[in-house]
Amino acid sequence: MPESGIRAGILGLGSYVPEKVLTNRELEKMVDTKDQWIVTMTGIRERRIASPQQATSDLALEAARKALDDAKISPAEVDLIIVATNTPDHLFPATACIVQDRLGAHRAGAFDLLAGCTGFMYALSVGAQFVESGMYRHVLVIGAETLSRIIDWEDRNTCVIFGDGAGAAIIGRVPEGYGLIHTKLGSDGSGGQYLDMPAGGSKMPACRESVDNKMHFLRMNGREVFKFAVRACGDGSLEALKSAGLALNDLDFLIPHQANIRIIEAAAKRLQLPMEKVLVNVDRFGNTSTASIPMALEEAVNRGSIKDGDNILMTGFGAGLTWAVTLMRWYDYRSGNR
Ligand SMILES: CC(C)(COP(=O)(O)OP(=O)(O)OC[C@H]1O[C@@H](n2cnc3c(N)ncnc32)[C@H](O)[C@@H]1OP(=O)(O)O)[C@@H](O)C(=O)NCCC(=O)NCCS
Repeated sequence: MPESGIRAGILGLGSYVPEKVLTNRELEKMVDTKDQWIVTMTGIRERRIASPQQATSDLALEAARKALDDAKISPAEVDLIIVATNTPDHLFPATACIVQDRLGAHRAGAFDLLAGCTGFMYALSVGAQFVESGMYRHVLVIGAETLSRIIDWEDRNTCVIFGDGAGAAIIGRVPEGYGLIHTKLGSDGSGGQYLDMPAGGSKMPACRESVDNKMHFLRMNGREVFKFAVRACGDGSLEALKSAGLALNDLDFLIPHQANIRIIEAAAKRLQLPMEKVLVNVDRFGNTSTASIPMALEEAVNRGSIKDGDNILMTGFGAGLTWAVTLMRWYDYRSGNR
C-alpha cells in the first residue's frame, strides 16, 4: 500500500480503430507473402490503417472521449494527460498537448512518453504515482499509434505485423484492496538496435539521403525481439505474482502486449493459464503497439468477461528495449459504488 493510503486503479476505458481494414490477402498483392505464413507465424489476420487525414492525435482523441464518458467525468476534471506513442503527430509539440486542447481539458498538464510498445504500461505506472501521492484525482493515459506511417510497405518482415489504433484509460482512486497492486518496469538499452527508426531525430536529421535510404521507417530484428519478449515477460510475471503473494491459480486474466500469438501462447504456458484466460486481439488488429493492452482490456470489460476482484496481469515489451509487468485487482467501476 502506498504511504498516502491511496490506491490507484482504472475508472474508465475507451478505444478507437480506424475504419479501413487491411487483410492478409490484400498484403499478398503488395509484398511476397502468404496469408498462411502470416497467420501461422504471427496469428494476425487483418489490421486497421488510418486514413490519410488521420494523425495519432485524432485516434487518441476518439479513445479519450470514450474513456471520459465511461468514467462519467468531464474534460475539466482531468488533471494530467499522458500520451504514450512511438508515432507522435510531430517531434514537438507533444501529441498530448494537441489532445488536451481539442478535448478542452483546460486544467490538465500534458506530455508524451516514449517507451516503445511498453509505453502504455509505463504511462499507467507514471499516472498512478500522481494519484497515489494525492497530487491528482484523474489522469488520462492514452496509448495511440499510426504505425502505418513509419512502415516500409515493401518490407515483408515488418509490414505484415503492425496496425493503427488507440486505447485510453482514466486513472483515479479506487477502494482499498483494488487497483494497481504491483508494477515492475524494466529496460535493456543494449538491445536498442533490434527495433528502431534510425532517422528523424538529432542523430540523423531528415535529409535527402535519409529519405532515399529509407531511414525513416521502422526496422526490426524479429528473432531477437521475440527472444527478449518471452524471457522478460515470463520472468517478470512470475516475480510480480510472488511479490504480491499470489499463486499461479490466483490469476484470472493475462493481458499480454499483442505482438505475436506465439509470444502470447508462450507467456500463457509459463503461467499455466488456459488460453480462455488470455485476452487476444492481435488476430484482428495486428500489433498496435502502445494501444494493444488498453484495447484488449476495454473489449473484455465491455463483453462482461472481467468481474470485480479479478486478478489481471498485464505484460508489455518493445523498443528500447523495454518491458513492464503490472498486476491489477479489477475494480468494477461500472457497478457504480464510487
Ligand atoms: C517477425 C517474426 C514473425 C518472424 O519469424 P521468424 O521465425 O523470426 O522468421 P525469420 O525472420 O527468421 O524469417 C524466416 C523466413 O521467413 C521469411 N519471411 C519473413 N517475413 C515474411 C512474410 N511476411 N511472408 C513470408 N515470408 C516471410 C524470411 O524472409 C525468412 O526467409 P528465409 O528463411 O528464406 O530467409 C518473428 O520473429 C516475430 O514475431 N518476432 C517478434 C516481433 C515483435 O514482436 N515485434 C514487435 C515488438 S513490440
